[in-house]
Amino acid sequence: MSETNTPMLPAVARFIAALRDLHETEPDERVRWESAAARLKELLADPELRAHGESWPTSPAKLGLEGKHANLIFYEDPDYGFVINGLIKKPAAKTTVHDHGKSWTLYGVLDGVESVLRFERTDGGTPGDLPERAEVRSTETHEVTAGHVDCIGPWEIHAEYNSETDRSIAVIVRSQKSGTFVQNIFYQKDGSVERYYGPEQIPYHLG
Ligand SMILES: [Fe+2]
Repeated sequence: MSETNTPMLPAVARFIAALRDLHETEPDERVRWESAAARLKELLADPELRAHGESWPTSPAKLGLEGKHANLIFYEDPDYGFVINGLIKKPAAKTTVHDHGKSWTLYGVLDGVESVLRFERTDGGTPGDLPERAEVRSTETHEVTAGHVDCIGPWEIHAEYNSETDRSIAVIVRSQKSGTFVQNIFYQKDGSVERYYGPEQIPYHLG
């Protein structure tokens, strides 16, 4: 494991500075996060970060398991609250069908191949109404590879399925730390909805 007294990777430090600048200068959240997505795309191309990702831990076992993943947490901004997470998925791992509550999320693929799915409610419900039950159906599926960034707005329902053969590594940027906001998990088998507070956050030094 990396030592915590080593400096953060330079490209990551530059990304954080750019995100802080966007928070200072861009009041429109959609514009801010779409701009941040372009910066994350640049970050995902950084050779040092790509090499670093190879060493990220896949244990404890809850990292990379199916369903409710735990995340590595690399950074939490002291002023604006955004966080940078890492996620390693085992081959064939699938997330639940879920939203990220009121938060914004950038899901960036650092390595591997994943399918990114979007869903819509078909029960007439509205985003953020925190239903007990809901019907959802898949609207889009895109296969994405390293360098892709998915920008997920508040209450957007989605899932990610890993390829059958390889692990994937993702860098995730969230507008606030998981655990500070409620999310929904949508179970298509019986229409039930579970509320939870997001993946467990496991500190890890990115340097
Ligand atoms: Fe998600």
